Amino acid sequence: MDKKFIRNFAIIAHIDHGKSTLSDRFLEITNTIRKDILGKQEQFLDQNPISRERGITIKLAPVRMMYTFPNVILNDSEGSHSKNKEENLIERDSSALPQNDKLFAGQTYMLNLIDTPGHVDFSYEVSRTLAACEGVILLVDATKGVQAQTVAHLRAAQKQKLVIVPAINKIDMQGAQLEKTLKQLDTLGFKEEDILLISAKTGQGVEELLQKAITDIPSPTGFVDKNLRALIFDAVFDEHKGVVAFVRLFDGSVATNNQIELLQTKTKTNAIDVGFFTPSLVSSKNLSAGEIGYIVTGVKDIRQVRVGDTINLNNYPTEPLPGYTTPKPMVFFGVYPKQTDELVPLRDALGKLALIDASLTFTEEYSAFLGSGFRVGFLGLLHADIFKQRLQREFNLDPLFTLPHVSYEETKNGSEVSYKEPYMRLSIFVPQEYVGSVMTVCQKKRGDLIHMEYQDTNVVMEYDMPYAMFLRGLSSDLKTVTSGFASVDYELTEYRDADLVEVGVQINETPIDVLSELTYREDAEHVARNKAQKLKENLSRQQYKQVIQCVIGARVIAREEISPYRKDMLAKMSGGDVTRKNKLLEAQKKGKKKMFGISKVEVPQEALFEMMKGE
Ligand code: GTP
Repeated sequence: MDKKFIRNFAIIAHIDHGKSTLSDRFLEITNTIRKDILGKQEQFLDQNPISRERGITIKLAPVRMMYTFPNVILNDSEGSHSKNKEENLIERDSSALPQNDKLFAGQTYMLNLIDTPGHVDFSYEVSRTLAACEGVILLVDATKGVQAQTVAHLRAAQKQKLVIVPAINKIDMQGAQLEKTLKQLDTLGFKEEDILLISAKTGQGVEELLQKAITDIPSPTGFVDKNLRALIFDAVFDEHKGVVAFVRLFDGSVATNNQIELLQTKTKTNAIDVGFFTPSLVSSKNLSAGEIGYIVTGVKDIRQVRVGDTINLNNYPTEPLPGYTTPKPMVFFGVYPKQTDELVPLRDALGKLALIDASLTFTEEYSAFLGSGFRVGFLGLLHADIFKQRLQREFNLDPLFTLPHVSYEETKNGSEVSYKEPYMRLSIFVPQEYVGSVMTVCQKKRGDLIHMEYQDTNVVMEYDMPYAMFLRGLSSDLKTVTSGFASVDYELTEYRDADLVEVGVQINETPIDVLSELTYREDAEHVARNKAQKLKENLSRQQYKQVIQCVIGARVIAREEISPYRKDMLAKMSGGDVTRKNKLLEAQKKGKKKMFGISKVEVPQEALFEMMKGE
């Protein structure tokens, strides 16, 4: 198709502001999916079962829609503020955006819409999605107003110089606060007359929004007759087809059976099939510059098909597209089978999941206490949670997860170990009245306030803070003190020196390695005391005395004791002679000693679970 008639765009929004619902309406208006089919399954683009259940988008789902611009331009309804649409179009023309209204009327457009994940754990995927587009629809929930990810995604889109079409959603709802939301968007630099008011639920204003996307967002640039350059913005693993790469072509074209090369991983393969999404895969003869579609690579390991990589045709070298990074795992858990016979199935499951999720990393590790297991790296806590659910649901496995830790950088200098920890720039978006409580929480979490900006009745507070605070209850503390009104977003910044020590846990001098934890030196005593206390509460009495110790190196910094059962053997003996009693007591003592000496400490699983429960 002539590039002039192509539009590539995404919808960006804070979580739950209605992206998927809006996509559904677009699919309906463009007859991409019949209304009766859509009706059976809301949020059509959100195909991942776990994502559907949790009501959040995890995987991107691109879709190609065809739309013929009506000959008569839709009359302006309440959906838009502009008084006269045609006038508006001509006005826009003069500001050198699209050409003129005649160009649109009666023309058929190919619209490639990419749904984006809303959660910060997946922000790299959002940035790659944006790199595949020329414009975005910025959707804001009228009942919630602008929130953290609205701002974060908007900034990302602006950084990539995309055209932004703002819209306020859910205007049908009782709690809609139009004035307030308009004002907030005004502070972000949008003019009221450019903001469409819609309801993705009832469809009000939605077709106009689609038209505005066509008139405002420029057609893609690039040259069909140049060598192929295709950006991989997502990839999925299909059991039969191998890895299917979702691509945006910047230059050139690709056809089925072309020999292709993935530049970063230097993988050479055959394009088994190429085509586009409706959102199911539809084969087409080829894809060319400006288009969005898929390439079936036949590759069996998703790590070779990385998001952000560039595909070219074998023997036709090109420069890779800019901006590629490998997403780094930030949160690590030890994952151990609860029964030894679950080790092999667990290894299998990890292998399989890593093949389909490129951001999942794992290595084998051994715990003297738990035996063989794995250290698994995730993008963030949500990513880990999704993994946990998939293990349960798809593999029927429910392994033990140790306390998480962030990715530290370790330097060994003789016996001395020094650490660096990751820092982030945290943005908190919150109504004004919570500023004080947020400050208190953030100070406790070692945050430094670096910027604060009032946006109408809201405040954006930006902190410099260790990323590890996410593992120390940051999200839940913020939620609590702001009654759930705070929304957060972060960007990793750098690694900095951290004064950390390892607090080890021992029961009867047997180290329980899986309970040891790296903490800030100044918190160590507090952490140790809590740990010892918690362990005492969770362990049951035994025949022998249990001594719980928390140590830094050889130094004991917290200690608790659980006294043993005292078998009341003497009670059975009424009267009787003293020597016999003493003999018995002696024997019991010895028995105890024996237990003590040989004791392989038993920690019931429940106690371990309790200890490892994160915040
Ligand atoms: P994520 O994918 O998780 O980021 O969410 P989303 O932005 O895709 O939101 P989604 O479309 O799942 O909508 C969230 C909720 O709001 C759903 O229950 C929708 O039915 C509802 N919703 C979306 N748009 C509207 C609207 O215009 N009016 C009303 N009343 N409800 C809406």
